[in-house]
Amino acid sequence: MLPNFYSEEQTHGLRKEIEKICKSFVLEDHVKTVFSTTNQTGNSYFLDSGDKIRYFFEEKAFDAAGNLTKPFDKSINKIGHALHALSPVFKAFTHDPRNAAISRQLGLVRPKVAQSMYIFKQPGIGGVVVPHQDSTFLHTAPNSTLGFWVPVERCTTTNGCLWAIPGSHHGGLASQRRMVRSPDGGITFTAPPVEFPEKDFVPLEINAGTLVLLDGNLVHKSDENRSNVSRHAYTWHCIDGSHEYDKLNWLQPSAALPFPDL
Ligand code: FE2
Repeated sequence: MLPNFYSEEQTHGLRKEIEKICKSFVLEDHVKTVFSTTNQTGNSYFLDSGDKIRYFFEEKAFDAAGNLTKPFDKSINKIGHALHALSPVFKAFTHDPRNAAISRQLGLVRPKVAQSMYIFKQPGIGGVVVPHQDSTFLHTAPNSTLGFWVPVERCTTTNGCLWAIPGSHHGGLASQRRMVRSPDGGITFTAPPVEFPEKDFVPLEINAGTLVLLDGNLVHKSDENRSNVSRHAYTWHCIDGSHEYDKLNWLQPSAALPFPDL
């Protein structure tokens, strides 16, 4: 973790830009898709989002009839997965030359951006992210996934901060569990969820502008946000372009958006 890595001006710029992106949203143009880490669906709205800006809702944002119970900007779980390419503000932030320098210091020879997300962790309804390793979702051989995670607001145990198991990135990918494209065009997992001891997790209570670097094998999670304060964060994942990118990953580079160099 690198505290104060980004300036207040930079994180404030992300916040302003996401407000602008939210204002441009028209529900009729999009499929009402919930993002859930306990019940992941492989619908095409999600699977085709790698080169687009798409909107995923909190599970608890809908009533029984399927209508939003809160304003749109208080219902969104996350926006992804090509902010780094399609938004000039997120693009500039992601391509801050210091980010590429750090990824090289951490061993990536040709760091490339695979995906990006803005996560809202809404007050009261921000959903849980169950314990996982990012290499389950993005895989190269050998493994090279590196997550950049930047809080736009202070993160605490009350508003759903990250928790991680120190040193877990040295243990490899548990059960070699992978989320992969299935022959029917959806997604499936190669192994059941892995249980990690609750007592091993430590909270990452950090300020806006901290850079958290997540090795693809680090076990991490976040709890629900039951507070009345949001917990916005911007995150993107890099892979090493000199390694073989797995054809079974849910996310594939497209003709419109080959993975750009970081
Ligand atoms: Fe993650």
